[in-house]
Parts: sequence; C-alpha cells; structure tokens
Amino acid sequence: MVELYDILSCKDFDKEELLYVLKKASEMECMVSKKGKLNLLEGKIVTMAFFEPSTRTRLSFETAAHRMGADVVGFSSAESTSVKKGESFEDTIKTIDQYSDTIVIRRADAGSAKRAAEVASAPVINAGDGSNEHPTQAMLDLYTIMKEKGTIDGLTIGLIGDLKHARVMHSLAYALSNFNVKLYLLSPDFLKQPPEVMDHLKAKNARFEEVSALNDEIIKDLDVLYTVRVQRERSEEDYLKARGSYIITPNLLKKARNDLIVLHPLPRREELPPEMDDTPYARYFEQARNGIYARMALLGVVARVL
Ligand code: NCD
Repeated sequence: MVELYDILSCKDFDKEELLYVLKKASEMECMVSKKGKLNLLEGKIVTMAFFEPSTRTRLSFETAAHRMGADVVGFSSAESTSVKKGESFEDTIKTIDQYSDTIVIRRADAGSAKRAAEVASAPVINAGDGSNEHPTQAMLDLYTIMKEKGTIDGLTIGLIGDLKHARVMHSLAYALSNFNVKLYLLSPDFLKQPPEVMDHLKAKNARFEEVSALNDEIIKDLDVLYTVRVQRERSEEDYLKARGSYIITPNLLKKARNDLIVLHPLPRREELPPEMDDTPYARYFEQARNGIYARMALLGVVARVL
C-alpha cells in the first residue's frame, strides 16, 4: 500500500510508487475482464470538475469510476457552472468538496489543481492544469509501455514535438526520470522542455539528449516514440511557427526497429496522419483504453482501497 493523497504532479512520485500504481492498474485490467464492474468504491461519489475540453481523460475517468462501483457527478465546461455568475474558483471547489469523495479537476491555468487541493478536504486528482502537468496521462503512458515492453528500465524513448506547452510531455519526463531510460527530447529550439523540467532531469541524473532533428540514427535506436500535437490553445504564435514539422509517417520510420511503438495522448492533428494506424508501430488507441485501468488504480489508491 502506498500513501498518496492528492495526485497533483509526477514530481511527487518515486519509482516504487509508480510501479505500485502500474501493478494495481494491471490487477484492475484483469478484474475488469473477469467481472466488468467491481465494488471497491461502492457508495462513493467521484466528481468530474472539467473546466477545459476533454474527451479521453473525462470519459476514461468516468468509465474507471463506474467500473470501480462509484457514482459520478460533474460538469464538462465552466459554461454550465456558477463560474459564469462570477463565483471564485476557491468557492466552487469548496462547494464541490461538500458533495465529493474524490475530485478530478481539469482547468486551463497552471497550478489550479494544487489550489483546489489546498481548499478541498477530499483528494484532488489533476486531470491537466494548463500547460503545467497531466500526471494521470503519464501513468497510463507508463502502463502502456510496461504492457508492451515488459519493462521501462533499459528503454530508449523519444519525446517529440511541442515539449514546451504539452503538459503530457512534462509529466512523462518527470515520471521517466525515475527509471533507467535514455531520453531523446526532440523539438525545435522554441518548443524545448521548460527549464523546470530540465532542472529536474539533471537533478535526477537522467540520461537525455536534446535534438532538433529526428534522423535515422536516432530512429534506429528507439523503443518508444511519443508524439503530441502542437498545443495551439497555449500559443498561436508557436503553433504557426511549428505547424507541419515533425510529422510521423511510415516513410520516416523506414529504419525503425520492428518492435518500435508509437504513442500519442490524442487528440491528433497533422503530426500523426491516419496512414500510421495501419503500421505495426501504432499503439495510441490501446493507450487510450489503458487510461481506464491506470485511472481505476489511481482512484483506488487515493480512496485507500488499493
Ligand atoms: C492531452 C491533454 O489534454 O493535455 N490529451 C489528453 O489528455 N488525452 C494532449 C493534448 O490535448 O494534446
């Protein structure tokens, strides 16, 4: 049993805790395949407080909560809440806290999940706070890698694209810094990982290389290639500059190892054309499915039932 209350940042997790979550995710997957619905969170209310758009994160959290036996309430945009009437964020959260056993929150400003955790007594799970972090996505990414490769240690992993604004890339880098991996950080200069992430990687003695071009030498070396769309909603200027670069095509991967896997948190734009779906590398829809099991594990851990 690990003691985790809020899930706010992957920086708060050590290797043992991450491996524990992955082990529980695997158990959840196995139990769901046998029983469909479990009763581990029976009588509990999980609230989805989504102030920002979401498809996979919200629906997989809802699916996870239902499969754990919990009931789910929530909203999927601020438009339908009293935020529209000028209610403060803190008051909205304090109110949600009266109804909830666990609060899952997504909002456009960095640090908002932490602010919520400061005023809520229920555990708060960060489902994406602006361009800061998206820790539960990183956990399902690790779970996918572990399922596909049987290990995380020893792998060579490329993170490619908008490393500056994509919160999934920050959380994944923090999480991977606990493992013995070689990281290629592939981006144009103006979309590099932020200094905070780089400082963390250095402090953890992570093995990484920052490169701007994905060449055959790197491709041959990769076990995992993780790509993401350019986050237009964070910077229109960067989007216009970066649009069209780093498009992953079957032709680009000609020299790749047979067992390379390509991951993407989705939604995708031009960086991952649908022609990639028919290659043996594609694992992003399986990755989306794995979100259910990783999130079941996290809901169970914060509720102290796993
Ligand atoms: C990501 C997000 O919202 O940060 N999507 C997701 O949660 N599956 C990535 C993105 O929107 O590009």
